[in-house]
Amino acid sequence: MNEIKEKKLILSVKNVSVKFKVRDRILSAIRNVSLDLYDKETLAIVGESGSGKSVLTKTFTGMLEANGFLSDGEILYNGKNLLDISSDRGWEAIRGVEIATVFQDPMTSLNPIRTIGSQITEVIIKHQKKSGSEAKKIAIELMERTGIVDAKRRFNEYPFQYSGGMRQRIVIAIALACRPKILICDEPTTALDVTIQAQILNLIKSLQEEYGFTTIYITHDLGVVASVADKVAVMYAGQIVEYGKVDEIFFDSKHPYTWSLLSSLPQLGTKGEELYMIPGAPPSLYKDIVGDAFAPRNPYAMKIDFEEEPPFFKISETHAAKTWLLDPRAPKTEIPEAIRNLHQKMENLVHRTGYGNEEEVATHE
Ligand SMILES: Nc1ncnc2c1ncn2[C@@H]1O[C@H](COP(=O)(O)OP(=O)(O)OP(=O)(O)O)[C@@H](O)[C@H]1O
Ligand SMILES: [Mg+2]
Repeated sequence: MNEIKEKKLILSVKNVSVKFKVRDRILSAIRNVSLDLYDKETLAIVGESGSGKSVLTKTFTGMLEANGFLSDGEILYNGKNLLDISSDRGWEAIRGVEIATVFQDPMTSLNPIRTIGSQITEVIIKHQKKSGSEAKKIAIELMERTGIVDAKRRFNEYPFQYSGGMRQRIVIAIALACRPKILICDEPTTALDVTIQAQILNLIKSLQEEYGFTTIYITHDLGVVASVADKVAVMYAGQIVEYGKVDEIFFDSKHPYTWSLLSSLPQLGTKGEELYMIPGAPPSLYKDIVGDAFAPRNPYAMKIDFEEEPPFFKISETHAAKTWLLDPRAPKTEIPEAIRNLHQKMENLVHRTGYGNEEEVATHE
């Protein structure tokens, strides 16, 4: 993993809460989340469906749906509070320009009835103030950089003539056309098969080195982040419950929810044995949550977990977890059997899938 030498804070989220109005009820999607992101690092946000990963990152680009609102907090981007932005125009200077997002399904980002080339050049003409012919040159170069073979010819093709993986490469090319400082990848590979997933991850990683942007990688699969992320934030029921460097999360995690996520990694399953599934379901976000939101599903829960919300306990400069198990008064607990020795198991995982292997950046599918 890259060691960050000179750390420059690029995004600082402070005590942010997001609520949605659903008919006459209020849903608390994000509850008091804080997060620091440093220039050129890769942060993975992991957690089950509904934990708030997408909602949290949508607040960075002003993309919350109309029924959503920030009830608290601030989001500093290069020192400027994004929550002071009050107009669509204000957001246009940030969204897609400073902070770009790549979504899961490339078809929703591409216009099916326009050529690939025109969709890339449009962005370049608008944001880089280039002429049509200059933009075309830059677009073809970007297509080549993102691994499109025979880019000159394919420039004039339509999205339906591209495979799923190729379309996702184009969406990445469009996102990079504005040279964003932060690239948010919201489950960019979930719809793709495993080999293509590895290729796209490796592509993003090598483009990041070349273009020097900061990446936020959203996924519910902890397995895919092992070799691409520097830091991991684990979300549960609208909160970050543990964060740390990737090694701290994989090999020294402290929150029982992180243990559950690790235990249920399909990649770590042994043939013939049943895969661990986290019992129960996340709490309703319409109700006030008392204590630790994970308590009802937590085999290690103590009385206090049902009564009081735990604070963050610091484990290292970069690692903290929000669990009463770290309170000095808590009984000593052992991590679950399934996730001991993860070092060895992870090596097999990286080896088997090709994640993190630069040579796997394929130029064709
Ligand atoms: N516009 C909305 N109106 C009401 N509730 C919403 C809205 N958008 C999101 N939510 C709710 O906010 C919570 C967090 O949603 P979010 O989409 O961030 O989850 P996620 O972690 O990205 O999940 P997934 O892995 O399924 O993408 C969920 O309970 C979701 O139903
Ligand atoms: Mg999501």
